[in-house]
Amino acid sequence: MRLAVFASGGGSNFQSIIDAVQRGDLPQTELGLCVSNKPQAGALQRAATHNIPTAVLRADAFDAEAAYTDALLDVLQTHRIDFVALAGYMRKVPSAVVAAYADRMVNIHPSLLPAFGGQGLYGRRVHKAVLAAGVRWTGATVHLVDDDYDTGPIVVQEPVIVEQADTPETLAARVLQTEHRLYPQALRLFAEGRVRIVGRTVQIAPPAS
Ligand code: GRF
Repeated sequence: MRLAVFASGGGSNFQSIIDAVQRGDLPQTELGLCVSNKPQAGALQRAATHNIPTAVLRADAFDAEAAYTDALLDVLQTHRIDFVALAGYMRKVPSAVVAAYADRMVNIHPSLLPAFGGQGLYGRRVHKAVLAAGVRWTGATVHLVDDDYDTGPIVVQEPVIVEQADTPETLAARVLQTEHRLYPQALRLFAEGRVRIVGRTVQIAPPAS
């Protein structure tokens, strides 16, 4: 599959996907594009280092949502992208783009959804909320993208223990390590055609023997 990764930040998850492709752990996957809404995103540097095409679509460069939607659809088509992975993309993906990539667009979220997700719960805020709630476990979730925040069908999850001494930063760092392992694994399931979406749930077929 030809994958586009959308990222607004440092892009460490994007890097984990690049590394997995290079190691041969994502055999059927080609990195076709990195999209960002932030010209300074570290993810764009990572793409450049690995000769992956980039597209910067700044919010303020489009006066209307429709123009932003068209620009996104256009760049995805130009690069023949058939699967999208959001990795710290801090802008809502327009409905028409979600629809065009229905069941072919995933996101990674740093908690065990449906807990600690939704609008406004991103980055450090997620881990702060986890600590404030006093839960003993958090984790990472890869889910399909629908029209809301963090609500699409869950593909894979992995738990992470919350330690007594954790701060949002130490917790974020540990969850991020898990994310880096989990995201390439989830993408591989799609690349191997093992994911079946049944209503609100996802079924994963065993590996071909
Ligand atoms: C990750 O924690 C991811 O779960 C969230 O945004 C963060 C992105 O980090 N959606 P990075 O840019 O991949 O380092």
